[in-house]
Amino acid sequence: MKIKTIREIKDLSGKKILLRVDFNVPLTATGLVGHSEDYRIVQTLPTIKYLSRHGAKVIILAHLGRPDGKIIEKLRLDPVAKRLAQLLGKKIRKSGEILGSRTKTLIHSMDNGDIIMLENIRFDKREESADKRFAQALARLGDIYVNDAFAVDHRDQVSVSTIQEFLPSYAGLLLEQEILHLSKAIKNPHQPLVVIIGGAKISTKMKLIRNFIPIANKILLAGSLANTVLKAMGISVGKSAIEPKMLSGVKKFRLTDNKIEVPVDAVVAKSYKSKKGHLDALADVKDNEMILDIGPDTLKLFGKIIKSARTIMWNGPMGLIENPTFAKGTKELIKILSKSKAETIVGGGETVEMIRKMKLENKFSFISTGGGAMLEYLEGKKLPGLRKIMN
Ligand code: 3PG
Repeated sequence: MKIKTIREIKDLSGKKILLRVDFNVPLTATGLVGHSEDYRIVQTLPTIKYLSRHGAKVIILAHLGRPDGKIIEKLRLDPVAKRLAQLLGKKIRKSGEILGSRTKTLIHSMDNGDIIMLENIRFDKREESADKRFAQALARLGDIYVNDAFAVDHRDQVSVSTIQEFLPSYAGLLLEQEILHLSKAIKNPHQPLVVIIGGAKISTKMKLIRNFIPIANKILLAGSLANTVLKAMGISVGKSAIEPKMLSGVKKFRLTDNKIEVPVDAVVAKSYKSKKGHLDALADVKDNEMILDIGPDTLKLFGKIIKSARTIMWNGPMGLIENPTFAKGTKELIKILSKSKAETIVGGGETVEMIRKMKLENKFSFISTGGGAMLEYLEGKKLPGLRKIMN
């Protein structure tokens, strides 16, 4: 499999590039992009700079949230364009629409190297229905299509995949990095490979676990998804949220196989909102308690396994990190991984935010911008956004 990147485009000078990025970032209460939450924007800078430096006219396509084909004022891309302009130290003109006359006039007035951004592409209801006419109309705005939007490449949508039928299409430099790192971890990782899977729902990560069982040396499960696994093993999880429908599927994982490790202790409390939790060995969780984080013995166990790894792949927090009382396990794991000499690959929005707040992002080999896309890629699915770009 080879990925076609922007470096293969012979002459970018004066070319109108439709650049699809994923700037789907959380906004603060005042409608701004928070500084520890701009990772997806920061990661596209090499592509944007490359295109602009080579004289291309860069027309950015992006989405924010799920407006469902309607114009939602607070989902306009202005704060995102503002943050991008700050990061680039360059003016970005933004159109308040997608295909209208204002957009056409803006494009017409562009000089080589200029960057503009169109409005939230999901304001047009045709975006999410792979509408070919909409794809053709969009394609007419540019000469070349570039996809640097790994985080949304699992969606079969007009600006992600359909448009590739109407323009020569290439990957941006971030997409190239995402594919290089993630495909190496599934195809030829340096062994031992240790996979750490946390987060809320086992149902969303079953395929991932199944895919890694033959290749990983160890799979460490934590977060609230591990509660379903513990329950399937016959261990009491008190009133922790579990997914009853997944119990029989989970049992097929041969839970006694020493490849899979689960928490041995936990921080428990009576409510998600508790300001205090206490430590329990797993056998001692009471009926009125819920498991909300991993404890020190689990960290010790995981830490020992991590020490012997040469590749580590991590997705999903260890506990309920929205509540700072239960964020310690995830923070400690970040510290352990930041000291590891193994190739460390991590993904998932909340975990990435925490790593950046701790200013440890440089201690990881690769931090993926993908949430759902990372999971689907690692499950072995063909992502629609890569259709004409990888062959
Ligand atoms: C994401 O944030 O994971 C991507 O931008 C995809 O967003 P979606 O789940 O709304 O399609």
